[in-house]
Amino acid sequence: MAKSIKYRAPRGTHDRLPDEMSLWYHLEGVVREQMRLYNYSEIATPTFEGTELFSRSIGEETEIVEKQMYTFFDKAGRSLTLRPEGTPPVVRSYIEHSLGRRQPLQKFFYIGPMYRQEAPQAGRLRQFHQFGAEAIGAIDPAMDVEMISLLLSICRRLGLKAIALHLGSVGCPRCRPLHREKLLAFLGGSYSLLCPDCQKRYHRNPLRILDCKRERCRELTEDAPSVIDFLCEDCALHFEGVKHHLQQLEIAYTLDRRLVRGLDYYTRTAFEVISANLGAQNAIGGGGRYDELIKELGGDPTPAVGFAAGMERILLAMEKEGCQIAQPPTIGVYVAPVGDRARAFALSLLKDLRQAGISCDGDYLKRSLKAQMRMADRMGASYTVILGEEEMDRNRVLVRGMRESKQEEVGLDRLVGYLIEKLGVRRQGQTV
Ligand code: HAM
Repeated sequence: MAKSIKYRAPRGTHDRLPDEMSLWYHLEGVVREQMRLYNYSEIATPTFEGTELFSRSIGEETEIVEKQMYTFFDKAGRSLTLRPEGTPPVVRSYIEHSLGRRQPLQKFFYIGPMYRQEAPQAGRLRQFHQFGAEAIGAIDPAMDVEMISLLLSICRRLGLKAIALHLGSVGCPRCRPLHREKLLAFLGGSYSLLCPDCQKRYHRNPLRILDCKRERCRELTEDAPSVIDFLCEDCALHFEGVKHHLQQLEIAYTLDRRLVRGLDYYTRTAFEVISANLGAQNAIGGGGRYDELIKELGGDPTPAVGFAAGMERILLAMEKEGCQIAQPPTIGVYVAPVGDRARAFALSLLKDLRQAGISCDGDYLKRSLKAQMRMADRMGASYTVILGEEEMDRNRVLVRGMRESKQEEVGLDRLVGYLIEKLGVRRQGQTV
């Protein structure tokens, strides 16, 4: 009887098993390739930061800060938080290292795990992975459109078709007071029907009520006034610019009058890419402009725009759409020894092959030749080197081309060179 399992991965986390890795490599490969094409440089920040960085950036009244952060105290009593998202750490790093002095416009990307204590469900995890991009330094609406175009290019290269771009504007501190007034007037009559959290938000940050997940609050805000109708002249002009450039690049979008992102730092442009196949958790990526955040965190006032996408959700959407993905990795050579002398020789041969840049594997379980051939097949080896007693006595081995099912006797002295030639390893360092 199987033993009961004593330890399981924490709720809302997921082991990425070797079988899934080729999917992840493929996804990361496409992300890196597109980031390169758009000239974004990779940045990596710690997985935890001082708590205040997030509460200040994301906003005290947001679901993330109110309910979802993994916050702990270290032994020195400092409050730290596992990053729920990547934007505040990138901005912190940008300010800390004065990166803006090197170039007036900096374009970054990142890939990594994020942490939010949400109720787990399909497409919603507590440790999930994002790739994201941030362009810090440009106010031009063309920058917003490059960002959107980058996210959509990645989706397209992955084969995703059933996706839609939702676009909105959340204005700026100049246009918000009037909208706030209208929103408060609209919600005033139903104040007592709002959930306790939204009643608090009503006084402190009413825009957040539009982002409440509770059914009742959603119904009450269905026809709430949109910020889009109260944009100041500059924000309206900027929004027109974004729409104009989207049209120029023939990027279709749905104007979303009540697109509210779950983070407080946004100004002007906000967008989400939605998959038609993911049910409730249908946003595969989202982002927008955050022109006030750098100043808010102590830097010089600098405009910025960015996005992040959920990698688990993208993989789910790819599965639903039946997107073709790269084959799992295979090896160049399988070395199959028969007998103790051959096994000792195999160890050196594997080392020599690896030094020549050929990926290879061998037998460490003293399996029969038949079982080893099955193994070679399963590993997708292009060639199997059979080290038989009788051939070894003559300093020769059998090399079997697994695709052609043909074998040839080769002298030990020229074996590595023979395999290099067969596999087309052109220069050292190139792995087959
Ligand atoms: P966000 O909308 O909070 O934006 O997250 C971006 C994406 O991360 C979501 O669209 C979703 O695909 C994925 N995601 C979020 N939470 C979870 C979860 N619990 N489980 C699985 N996937 C999840 C941001 O994070 C901003 N930093 C985007 C940004 C960058 N804005 C400007 N620059």
